[in-house]
This record gives sequence, C-alpha cells and structure tokens, in this order.
Amino acid sequence: MSLMTSLPAGYRALVLGASGTIGRSFIEQLTCDDRCAVVERLDRSSPSPLILEDEAAITSAVQSIATCGPFHLILDATGALTIDGQGPEKRLEGMSANGLMRAFQINAIGRGMILRECIPLLPRKERSIFGVLSARVGSISDNHLGGWYGYRASKAAGNMLLQTAAIESHRTRPGAVFAALQPGTVVSRLSEAFSRGHETVTAENSTMGMLNTLNSLTARPQAWFVDYRGQTIDW
Ligand SMILES: NC(=O)c1ccc[n+]([C@@H]2O[C@H](COP(=O)([O-])OP(=O)(O)OC[C@H]3O[C@@H](n4cnc5c(N)ncnc54)[C@H](OP(=O)(O)O)[C@@H]3O)[C@@H](O)[C@H]2O)c1
Repeated sequence: MSLMTSLPAGYRALVLGASGTIGRSFIEQLTCDDRCAVVERLDRSSPSPLILEDEAAITSAVQSIATCGPFHLILDATGALTIDGQGPEKRLEGMSANGLMRAFQINAIGRGMILRECIPLLPRKERSIFGVLSARVGSISDNHLGGWYGYRASKAAGNMLLQTAAIESHRTRPGAVFAALQPGTVVSRLSEAFSRGHETVTAENSTMGMLNTLNSLTARPQAWFVDYRGQTIDW
C-alpha cells in the first residue's frame, strides 16, 4: 500500500504519544506504507520517556531518536482531557488555577517543547509534514457550547504555538507543512467518558483520513487547521 505519496520514497516518520489510541493507529498505518522506511516512536514508556510536564525529559527523549532522522513526517498525538482524575469543567465554578495550569502544562507547554525539539529534525530542502493532534473545541470561533475551559484554552494555546512555529520555520524549511488536526470523535481512554451521543469514527478511519489530508496539503507560511475528512476549521 502506498499512503504518503507526496513524501519522498523511503521517508522516515516519528510518532509522539505512540501509546495512545490515535498514536498507535498512526503507527499501524505507517508500517503498512511501502514508501515509509522507518517509523520511530516516543511515549512515556520509551527508554528515554517522553513526559510532557518535564522539559528536560522531552529534550532527552527527542535526542534519543535524533540520529534516526531527519524525519519527513512527524505526528504529535499526545494530549489529555481528564487530568489528575479531574474531567473537563462544565461551568465557571469548576475552573481552578491548578486545573488550568495542568491542562496548559500538558496540551500547550508540552506541545511547545515538542515543536522546539522536533522541528530541527525536519529536512531543510525536501517536502515534510508536521501534524499535531489538536481538537475542534480549541477553535475560538467555533465555540458555541462553552464549558471545558482548560481543555479548550490549552488546545487554542497549542494551536497558536504551532502557527507561530510554522511562520518561523517556513523561512528555513519552505517545504514543510504544519497542521493542527481534529480527528473526529474516536473512542479512546481520553474520550470514552464523553463520546456518548456523538457520532464516532474508528481510530483506523480517523488516522487514514488524517494521513490522506496531510498528504494533500501544500506547504505555506502558515499552519493548517483541518479535520480528518480534509475540511478546514476556523481558528
Ligand atoms: N479521541 C478523540 O475523540 C479526540 C478528539 C479530539 C482531539 N483528540 C486529541 O487527540 C490526541 C490523542 O488522543 P487519544 O484519543 O489517542 O487519547 P489517548 O489514547 O488517551 O492518548 C493520549 C496520548 O497522550 C499521552 N499523554 C497524556 N498525558 C501525557 C503526559 N503528561 N506526558 C506524556 N504523555 C502523555 C498518552 O500517554 P500514556 O499512554 O502514557 O498515558 C498517550 O500516548 C489528544 O491530543 C486529544 O486531545 C482526541
């Protein structure tokens, strides 16, 4: 099967958050792509563990696989919704400084550090793709329901970090595509308590859709915000 046809034959891929439902499914798809030579993975169980709250651990984890690069495809599938046993806030009264801080630590600051460490692993001249798992609820303009303060705000902050890194990186890596991804509602540890009543998509169809979408995006001096069906989402 040939999947990522826009990347050079023999391309190398890196999946972060490989232990999650979506991260695992990305790895399954990429190992079946006959154009993909290498799929490296990082997560909290890696020999050098990727811990989003620990800047030094993120640096060490990425350094531990750096010699396998450059990577033409990097997918960051990390993220959390329920943190320290606390689910998303329904109302203002449910919001706490600690809850917000923890959501930002994982979904925004951790992501920022991953971008800082991983963007130098993209090739300078060839086409490359950096996809990060965002969420539609991180869209400020698409917020019609309210609630989920920490998750929404930390995903929006993660999107801003991606957008800013995309603008800067275009100067040195004009062939790089950056995209924030909405996977649909995929039943996983993260979503299982909240997916009732939502139309769900299997991890396989979601990751296949996201990879097809990434494959078709053009490099530009801005990030994309797209869902697994290829539809653009307003920031
Ligand atoms: N599932 C959905 O319906 C849905 C919808 C919209 C967006 N998303 C986004 O998609 C991404 C993946 O979600 P998923 O459904 O695959 O969830 P998942 O199965 O819970 O996977 C989450 C991944 O993030 C890692 N992670 C969480 N907290 C971490 C921390 N503090 N340090 C290091 N790694 C950490 C997990 O590592 P461990 O295995 O070690 O816990 C796991 O690899 C997330 O960014 C999520 O916000 C999912």
